[in-house]
Amino acid sequence: MKTIKIAIINGPNLNLVGVREPDIYGSMPLNDHLEALRVQHPEVAFTFFQSNHEGDIIDEIQRVGFSCAGIVLNAGALTHYSYAIADAVRSVHAPVVEVHISDVNAREPFRRISVIKDACAAVIAGFGLKSYDMAVDWLIDNAL
Ligand code: DQA
Repeated sequence: MKTIKIAIINGPNLNLVGVREPDIYGSMPLNDHLEALRVQHPEVAFTFFQSNHEGDIIDEIQRVGFSCAGIVLNAGALTHYSYAIADAVRSVHAPVVEVHISDVNAREPFRRISVIKDACAAVIAGFGLKSYDMAVDWLIDNAL
């Protein structure tokens, strides 16, 4: 029986993982990885959402954030400047884990700034697509 609800929310350009800059983000499509994660966790009812639009991401955080056990959020480049997403994360009840595929702290200086991290329960970055698995494990261990 699926007893745990976890929402995975992805921001701009993450629909192109597998195609975009494979030296940084790998060559596996993110959707394929997330579907495998779904199979690995039969106890979790996942929702997957991706948008290139800030407001749609905020709408999704608000939609799921009062009813799920936790949110895995890769806000993409919006991580570095969206105070509106930071406020949305602060506004909901579900704990949010900030996730990045790449090691944002080892890249350009603007990527070292996260305006959402203080609103999040944890940050996981730099483990490739496994960052998502680790965030789900973190929520299962800490948020239930
Ligand atoms: C990213 C890192 C961001 O700096 C970048 O804009 C992305 C992806 C990551 O998963 O490594 O789009 O969030």
